[in-house]
Amino acid sequence: MAIERTLSIIKPDATERDLTGQINARFEGAGLRIVAQKRLHLSEAQAQAFYAVHKERPFYADLVAFMTRAPVVVQVLEGENAIARNREVMGATDPAKADTGTIRKDFAQNIEANSVHGSDAPETAAQEIAFFFSAIEIVG
Ligand code: CMP
Repeated sequence: MAIERTLSIIKPDATERDLTGQINARFEGAGLRIVAQKRLHLSEAQAQAFYAVHKERPFYADLVAFMTRAPVVVQVLEGENAIARNREVMGATDPAKADTGTIRKDFAQNIEANSVHGSDAPETAAQEIAFFFSAIEIVG
């Protein structure tokens, strides 16, 4: 199995409820090492740029407003098959459809305020990691 890195975001609905530690414990318990992490308050321009792929979607403006309403914690997770593993640990985008024991099932409030983001493929992981971190900030 390949060692991969993926970009994770603990979203405003989770930081507002002080869930960072509990969510990090889920990642570490699943073999995902946190090799970079910082807490940021995204500007509107930063949230728009990060989610530019969704700019034609009806939920885009609300998503940007949500992602800028409180701090986020951005992270690089590293481990075997980290991209898929993280998506398993997060659960489905819509918490109503997420499996028992996943982060979104246990913590998310709705399809938008869904507590965490994780990259969906190797190319997007590389782009999303580079959006937030320089190489010297990632310590494996
Ligand atoms: P994320 O994995 O960060 O990718 C895009 C985000 O847009 C998603 O999690 C949700 O926060 C949000 N999102 C996706 N689909 C919808 C939807 N149908 N309505 C509202 N927000 C959505």
